[in-house]
Amino acid sequence: MGKLTIAIDGHASTGKSSIAKKLAKSLGYLYINSGSMYRAVTLYAIENNLLELIDLDINKFIKKLKENKIYFKKNENKSISEIYLNKKNIENEIKSLRVSQKVSLIAAVPEIRKEMVKLQRNIDRTKGVVMDGRDIGSVVFPDADIKLFLTASPDIRAKRRHNEMINDGETVNFEDVLENILVRDDLDTTRKDSPLIIEKDAVVIDNSYLSIEDQLAKILALINQKIKL
Ligand code: CDP
Repeated sequence: MGKLTIAIDGHASTGKSSIAKKLAKSLGYLYINSGSMYRAVTLYAIENNLLELIDLDINKFIKKLKENKIYFKKNENKSISEIYLNKKNIENEIKSLRVSQKVSLIAAVPEIRKEMVKLQRNIDRTKGVVMDGRDIGSVVFPDADIKLFLTASPDIRAKRRHNEMINDGETVNFEDVLENILVRDDLDTTRKDSPLIIEKDAVVIDNSYLSIEDQLAKILALINQKIKL
């Protein structure tokens, strides 16, 4: 079997990107965080006062969006890919609560999803790819070799995300982080276009009480099983 396409979907703040990064590193694959692309669009809309335009004239917004470049570039020190908007590394900025509070509304807009899915499908998969998000196994790569669905209790997810934000120097309340996670889960699972669902052929992992190492071992075992088939 050649290089695999691995799709990791799941609820908000389930540590998809942490596990996806480690997995990609251990396999020597490319890692793409599709959520950061929706976050980049959100940051662009906030910074250019274009949130209203999305409601008023979505085609005009898409035209403006296309004048910008959203892309990933490898950070040679960390050997992982990071997201850029017009030559600016926005990896940290997109994680802020002001972006998190708008991103799921923006990600529910079909015209925006269409553009992002196009970019995601353009990625070179020949060297193997791990991509995480909400619709990777269902819409972006329904032919993925491995589909994982990550979940964990909301409280544990909020604690992890809150700690991460505090460590990044952001001043945030635990309650606001929890609220944001619950609202995003609701928007992501109930939207009409590409909602978050558990694919029939996905393996569900509840990582409430699993360490990253445990998860990695579990996923690598699944991959080995698949390669032997
Ligand atoms: O906070 P977390 O890492 O869980 O989320 P993310 O992966 O950064 O994604 C942020 C938001 O983008 C999600 O809540 C979804 O609304 C949206 N998203 C999506 O609609 N489809 C994807 N493939 C990835 C993210």
